[in-house]
Amino acid sequence: MNPTQELLQGKFQQALAAAFGDEYGTVDPLLGAASNPKFGDYQSNVSLPLAKKIGQQPRAIASAIVEKLDVSDICEPPEIAGPGFINLRLKTAYLEGQINAMQGDSRLGVPLTDNPQREIVDFSSPNIAKEMHVGHLRSTIIGDSIARILEFRGHDVLRLNHVGDWGTQFGMLITYLREVYPEALTTANALDIGDLVSFYKKAKQRFDADEAFQETARQEVVRLQAGAEDTIHAWKLLCEQSRQEFQVIYDLLDINLQERGESFYNPFLPAVVADLETSGLLEANQGANVVFLEGFTNREGEPLPLIIQKSDGGYNYATTDLAALRYRIREDKAKRIVYITDSGQASHFAGVFQVARRAGWIPDEVELVHVPFGLVLGEDGKKFKTRSGDTVRLRDLLDEAVSRARADLETRLQSEEREETPEFVANVAQVVGISAVKYADLSQNRTSNYKFSFDNMLSLKGNTAPYMLYAYVRTQGIARTVRSAPTPSGNIDFTQLGADAKITLQDETEFTLAKHLLQLGEVIGAVETELLPHRLCDYLYQLSDKFNKFYENCPVLKSEEPMRTSRLALCDVTARTLKLGLSLLGIRVLERM
Ligand code: ARG
Repeated sequence: MNPTQELLQGKFQQALAAAFGDEYGTVDPLLGAASNPKFGDYQSNVSLPLAKKIGQQPRAIASAIVEKLDVSDICEPPEIAGPGFINLRLKTAYLEGQINAMQGDSRLGVPLTDNPQREIVDFSSPNIAKEMHVGHLRSTIIGDSIARILEFRGHDVLRLNHVGDWGTQFGMLITYLREVYPEALTTANALDIGDLVSFYKKAKQRFDADEAFQETARQEVVRLQAGAEDTIHAWKLLCEQSRQEFQVIYDLLDINLQERGESFYNPFLPAVVADLETSGLLEANQGANVVFLEGFTNREGEPLPLIIQKSDGGYNYATTDLAALRYRIREDKAKRIVYITDSGQASHFAGVFQVARRAGWIPDEVELVHVPFGLVLGEDGKKFKTRSGDTVRLRDLLDEAVSRARADLETRLQSEEREETPEFVANVAQVVGISAVKYADLSQNRTSNYKFSFDNMLSLKGNTAPYMLYAYVRTQGIARTVRSAPTPSGNIDFTQLGADAKITLQDETEFTLAKHLLQLGEVIGAVETELLPHRLCDYLYQLSDKFNKFYENCPVLKSEEPMRTSRLALCDVTARTLKLGLSLLGIRVLERM
């Protein structure tokens, strides 16, 4: 709820108490944004349910409320409409006060949270020696944006990369490494085996074809678990190689996160088993140790087991997540943990959360959230693939976005007969290309699948990054003009309009823009609780649109004072809101493009 709505809510409750008695002072006044701006800004529907309860006509109830309602410093006189709706229109002076306060605030009116807490965002989390695929790309982009929003609100955020760096596949990989690069294990040099993914494929072929190899691989797993020095050395080499490949992607995307892979929790796995044993949850099942889940059954209606320890003594993905959960609560003191993965892992997390709860590891105030997302599809609506049918390498995908952005830019420069330096072209192409990929992902409701289309995401029209970046560029163009041709008073710098710049609202488009700007805090608050970044994208898209309408309708530089300064200040709040909003999506703005 935004501050204005909160204020009005309080006023309504006072009126309800005054009109019908104190016990009505806590009734929800059912206040919402008006469905149609013709009727004002807010509407209360409370008269209808109250009418039933009290046994009077709704319109009579509405008049009784309005009679006691003291909102004269916020709204025009309330109007009763239809069967008994109460419509409210904000006063111009009130709106001006709010928008001027926003303009004067470096946080644009978005408060720091009253309840700062340790929050963990578990995101990206690719697997060593395997492809970092589009699913990991989604997790990386969505997780980064969520982390940025929580940080901006003042939470203490731990960004964790739960890399898959442990497991039986390392037996196979290390055995193969010893076979084909024996020298790598004896020198101190970093490993250079080229493409790790094809290395993995070759190792797998070798593994599948040769029983003796399989046996050696099994022994390597045992050695790895026992911490044998040379095996650990080989394992580290493989992790390091993957890490470098992942880092290329993180650098391109400007992502900051802390690696804490599955191996980190390895020492804590036996305690997980012991604890589940003590709490009586662990049961033997076909040689394995499992916990039977409540509310999850197979087709035969039998309860589903979550496997904690396999019959060979090995542990599972879920066991590691249980250990991680305990560690994050006990050591990291997390109050909320959010996991960003594809929806396919929903039942994994539901199982892990349930077992941890039943084991009594989750204090009441701790919240565990799986943040699922849908698939990335090709333009044909099928699984996202290259033309030749291979999985798309992220590196290639990002490079292509940038080179297409560059081609678009070069065409535009040519048609506008503009000359720009190679540095300018490279920078704009980089920012536009990467932003387009990020924004295309974030602007979708994450729970649905989305179609990956370079043409759509790079378009200058529609709900795209280039459109949004362009709106910002427009504001900066105005700022440059102001700087190069100061007003007679000589001292207006768009970036420092500051204290003496007062916004006065005149035109309808100015009202619309100001009201929209004032919803920023509410939108950010909603993303913080619902973890749905597309809501911020929608907000910014509408903001760009409302700004463009204002700019088409209202002369800015050519209007007389004091409107000129007022409108410049409105441009300034818009620009800063766009810049802040985009930065929370992990998108850098451009001064020119
Ligand atoms: N490595 C996993 C994968 O690629 C994702 C890990 C997600 N995080 C977690 N704590 N399980 O599917």
